Amino acid sequence: MKRIALAVMGAMSAMVAGSALAAAPDWSKVTERKVKLFYPGQSGMEWIMNKADHSAVPDIVDKKRACAKCHEGDADEIGDKIVAGKPVGSSKTVLEPKPPAGKVGWIPATFKAAHDGEKLYVRFEWVPPKNGDVKMDKKNEVKVTMMFDGGGTVEGADLNGCWNTCHNDLRSMKDAKDDKKTKYTKGGSLDGGKFMDLIQYRSGKGEKPVDGYVTDKRYMEGGKGLVKAEGVKEGNKWVVTFERALAGGGKGDHAITTDKIYNFGFAIHEDFTEARYHYVSLGYQFGLDKTVEGVKYYYNVTKQ
Ligand code: HEC
Repeated sequence: MKRIALAVMGAMSAMVAGSALAAAPDWSKVTERKVKLFYPGQSGMEWIMNKADHSAVPDIVDKKRACAKCHEGDADEIGDKIVAGKPVGSSKTVLEPKPPAGKVGWIPATFKAAHDGEKLYVRFEWVPPKNGDVKMDKKNEVKVTMMFDGGGTVEGADLNGCWNTCHNDLRSMKDAKDDKKTKYTKGGSLDGGKFMDLIQYRSGKGEKPVDGYVTDKRYMEGGKGLVKAEGVKEGNKWVVTFERALAGGGKGDHAITTDKIYNFGFAIHEDFTEARYHYVSLGYQFGLDKTVEGVKYYYNVTKQ
């Protein structure tokens, strides 16, 4: 069965600029990037950045090595171990105290992005793993979320990607005290762009795309840049696309310009999950029409 979620026209500004008339790119001509999305369990920032747990901390801090530099190759194995409740890291920590039965540790996804001078177009494609029978988020079989900074505006996001917003005291994490506490960035604020812009596609019937941001907590509204977020289940695969006005224009919207390199990451909540029970990417980077030599986790978003 084909499931199509409603596309919502946002951003009046984008329409005024005439970009609502622009067509989506010919995706067959856009470079694809295979990404391993893996199950992170309770690997919050405090665990990742604690040397006793993770021997790589000096490499991250002193040598400025990004997660993807070391883990693009083994992200699948990390996910497999964590989801099964196996001990990981130097401290041999179990990062999933209640391993969900039958859940796979990772999913391969294909990422593509393009722009037309007015809008950024992003496309995710993956084959969903087998569904279980627990439905945490009853409305949405699938949610796809992308977060990005304002081009180096969030300290550390170039090294730790979405982990920047993931902490041990969040709901469903190890030290949770408040089951409503959502992700945040340390020292996050709308001033000076110290926030992660957040856009989300939700598959449920009647559900609207989310255009929010993350500062001291996660805000699920305020943005005006997201023009569309659509998802289609084609046979056994999901295809989710976003259209985002480059200029942004709302609260918690970063303007995307050609002179910067943006840090981003994304997550897929598969199988009616919520909170930390998602698959996540390591931190990646993108720029518009810009070649960056030697950084494998960089994606050049070219004009179509
Ligand atoms: C310099 C290479 C390097 C970098 C950079 C790095 N790691 Fe690691 N990571 C390792 C090694 C080596 C291990 C194995 C355990 C250890 O030595 O602590 C590991 C273990 C892990 C584990 C546990 C899985 C396992 O198999 O033990 C997770 C989760 C993890 N890293 C996530 C991250 C994240 C997220 C980042 C970015 C903030 C990151 N790593 C950056 C090298 C790295």
